[in-house]
Amino acid sequence: MDIILLGPPGAGKGTQAQRLVETRGMVQLSTGDMLREAVAKGTPTGLKAKAIMAAGELVSDAIVSALISERLDASSDKGAIFDGFPRTGHQAAALEILLDERGRKLDHVIELVVDEEALVERITGRFTCANCGAGYHDKFKLPKVEGTCDVCGSHDFKRRPDDNEQTVRTRMAEYRAKTAPILPVYEEKGLVRRVDGMGTVDEVAAAIDAILDS
Ligand code: AP5
Repeated sequence: MDIILLGPPGAGKGTQAQRLVETRGMVQLSTGDMLREAVAKGTPTGLKAKAIMAAGELVSDAIVSALISERLDASSDKGAIFDGFPRTGHQAAALEILLDERGRKLDHVIELVVDEEALVERITGRFTCANCGAGYHDKFKLPKVEGTCDVCGSHDFKRRPDDNEQTVRTRMAEYRAKTAPILPVYEEKGLVRRVDGMGTVDEVAAAIDAILDS
């Protein structure tokens, strides 16, 4: 099963994708994570993407489509969760071709419907374990033991450089202008399922499970 999780910054795409990896063994394909990895390694892609990401703007369609193409085959058995991709009409067209070439097709496009103002709080409070990447939040999901990662026991945590209010507002504007317009295309194909993204993490996960099991 191949699905897209769609929603503005902070909607919970990464959180829900991680849940699906744990519960169903699906493969998370997050272009944001891939780009951050490229930036951290200082690859040519990372060097091109760094300033664009820091400003909250979109990296070029060619770069992100190539990243997805490189990783798509690793998800052939269990299915892929596209997290943060596609984000433009061009990316949606590229994804269709990439799946077609492999005899695959999208099963669902799950839109996380959220209140953008609440997302600013979600994003600016977010942090992750620097060792294993487990996600936390200052208010909604603190480690069980203060300063210690629940998953790997590390004491090192980090925050994303683009998780400040000004950049978040730009990211949201990019979503409204370039990503939201791809929804009607998927709607016409009968693929869009909507989930209330303002529930708790468990409630949102249950709603997604219900769609995948339907
Ligand atoms: P990317 O990494 O994709 O960031 P994003 O879309 O802005 O999404 P986020 O990761 O911020 O949010 P999320 O929806 O995953 O929410 P999360 O689960 O973390 O992209 C970053 C940048 O890379 C872009 O700005 C762009 O420059 C570039 N880029 C990436 N892909 C691209 C593409 N395809 N084309 C061009 N450029 C691209 O949750 C957020 C917080 O809320 C967490 O702390 C979490 O614990 C908490 N939370 C989650 N769910 C809930 C809940 N139900 N209740 C309470 N708290 C919750």
